[in-house]
Amino acid sequence: MRTRNILLAPLLIALAGCQPEVPQQYAAKANEWLLAQSTGCFQCHITGKDRLGPAWEKVSERYRNNPDAEAHLMNKIKNGGNGAWISRTMPGYSEDLLSEANRKTLVKFILSLR
Ligand code: HEC
Repeated sequence: MRTRNILLAPLLIALAGCQPEVPQQYAAKANEWLLAQSTGCFQCHITGKDRLGPAWEKVSERYRNNPDAEAHLMNKIKNGGNGAWISRTMPGYSEDLLSEANRKTLVKFILSLR
C-alpha cells in the first residue's frame, strides 16, 4: 500500500509539469537523470549517498569488473528483491512501470557513475 503511494508521487509531479532541475554534475546525462527522477528511483536512491537503497556510485563500484553486472541489475530492477546490500526490499518495476529500453538506460547510467 505504502509502496504504491511512493511510486505515484513522482508521476503526479510529472503530470503537474514541474520539471526538476538536473544537478550540474549530471548535465551531460540529463536524460538519464530525468528518467530516474520521473520513475521515482530517487525516493530511495540518491547519487552520492545511501538512502533507503545504496548510493548508485557504490553499486557501480561493486560491479565494475563483473561481466554479469548488466544482466544482474536488469533482473534486479525488474523483479526487485533484497539481500545484496541490506534486508530492505527494492520494489520490482514491471514493463508497464519501466520499459525494458528505459531499464537498460538506467542500468548503463548507474554503472557509468564514479
Ligand atoms: C522503495 C525504495 C526503492 C526505490 C523506489 C528504488 N529502489 Fe533500488 N534499491 C532499494 C533497496 C532497499 C535496495 C537494496 C536491495 C538489496 O540489498 O538487495 C536497492 C538496490 C538497488 C540496486 C542494486 C541492486 C543489487 O543487486 O546490487 C540498483 C541498481 C537499484 N536499486 C536501482 C534502482 C532503480 C533504477 C530504481 C528506479 C527504477 C530504484 N532502484 C528504485 C530501494 C529502492
